[in-house]
Amino acid sequence: MGPDAIPLSKPDVGPLEMEMVREVIQSGRLAIGPMTERFEKLIASRAGCSHGVAVSSGTGGLHLLMQAMEIGIGDEVITTPLSFVASSNPIVYVGARPVFVDVCPKTLNMDPDKLEAAISPRTKAIVAVEAFGNPAHMDAYAQIAAKYEIPLIEDCCEALGSSHKGRPCGSFGRAGVFGFYPNKQITTGEGGMIVTDDTHLAQICMSLRNQGRDTFPDSASEGQRLGSWLQHPRIGFNYRMDELSAAMGCAQMRRFDEMMERRESVARMYIERLSGTEALVLPTIEPESLMTWFVFVVRLTTDFTIDDRDRIVEGLRMHDVGSATYFPCIHLQPPYRDRFGFQPGDFPIAESVSNRTIALPFFNDLTEREIDLICQTLEVMITRQNLSRG
Ligand SMILES: Cc1ncc(COP(=O)(O)O)c(C=O)c1O
Repeated sequence: MGPDAIPLSKPDVGPLEMEMVREVIQSGRLAIGPMTERFEKLIASRAGCSHGVAVSSGTGGLHLLMQAMEIGIGDEVITTPLSFVASSNPIVYVGARPVFVDVCPKTLNMDPDKLEAAISPRTKAIVAVEAFGNPAHMDAYAQIAAKYEIPLIEDCCEALGSSHKGRPCGSFGRAGVFGFYPNKQITTGEGGMIVTDDTHLAQICMSLRNQGRDTFPDSASEGQRLGSWLQHPRIGFNYRMDELSAAMGCAQMRRFDEMMERRESVARMYIERLSGTEALVLPTIEPESLMTWFVFVVRLTTDFTIDDRDRIVEGLRMHDVGSATYFPCIHLQPPYRDRFGFQPGDFPIAESVSNRTIALPFFNDLTEREIDLICQTLEVMITRQNLSRG
């Protein structure tokens, strides 16, 4: 792709973010400070939860939850095969086995009708992902989790601000995790946030992210805090978010509604422009869901193969249109095949969808003209591929 290419994604960061980051630099307090606490409150409140625990990435947040819930060797965790690999890797970090449930072809989230069959006496948690930000079935997962008394962890890394039946993403399970990588709804550069109503769980996660140090109530003196700095009652990690990232997050949250409206209008333009393209299945959102768009992913119809799709994506990139194959199935990634013996055909719906998806450029200031150009290029690439197949 050349210098004038339309990128796949682009963060929306401006003067407010710069100003707030500059304030942090000038304050001299770059880590463990008030900006992180402010950002935690903003995200927790958006997710309708009482606690937010800021971390250095979404992956780190999921790993902390596995540790805090004492999930380990011999345990099973149910999750989706159709996601970014980071939704499943933390299960493997702690020595547990991922048990995948095939997805629903419409929503691309785990099929709730197949979930119960995957539960065994070894199931220690369900990690439910809102694929591409779509919150469908979260209420159904929560009901099944409650029935079997298994904790539901929401990997809502792609769904900040989405809601289902009026309930915000992040609030369906025992805990949720958001991610703030630059392609997400908001960004802190790198960063993530655990949200929960469970005070004990929040405190364990706060301790684990901070090298296992104890947490203190707001009333604790500076002396108490300093006195315990080198005391580590548990083995922890350094998964802290720094103050500069938190400042960016606070600035982004101030602009949240305006940015999500913009994303909605970009998605609408795509849908209007591509609704007549027969070779494509467009994303659909159930009427009871509200989705803040994370990416714009279209799917080729079933008469296209994975090779056709890859050639179309290659063609888009050659014509300076950023695009990607979101997402290859997790169970078919080499370490999952080698370690757990997963095979092609294990989750046919996820595999069939994954072989035909194309993520198109998606960011806040994408113009109607650019969308038109992207869609024209896509249609030409599809036609070319159809012709080459005879
Ligand atoms: C579904 C899902 N889970 C987990 C992650 C991991 O987040 P991060 O990149 O912040 O570690 C991501 C983001 O990339 C994601 O999309």
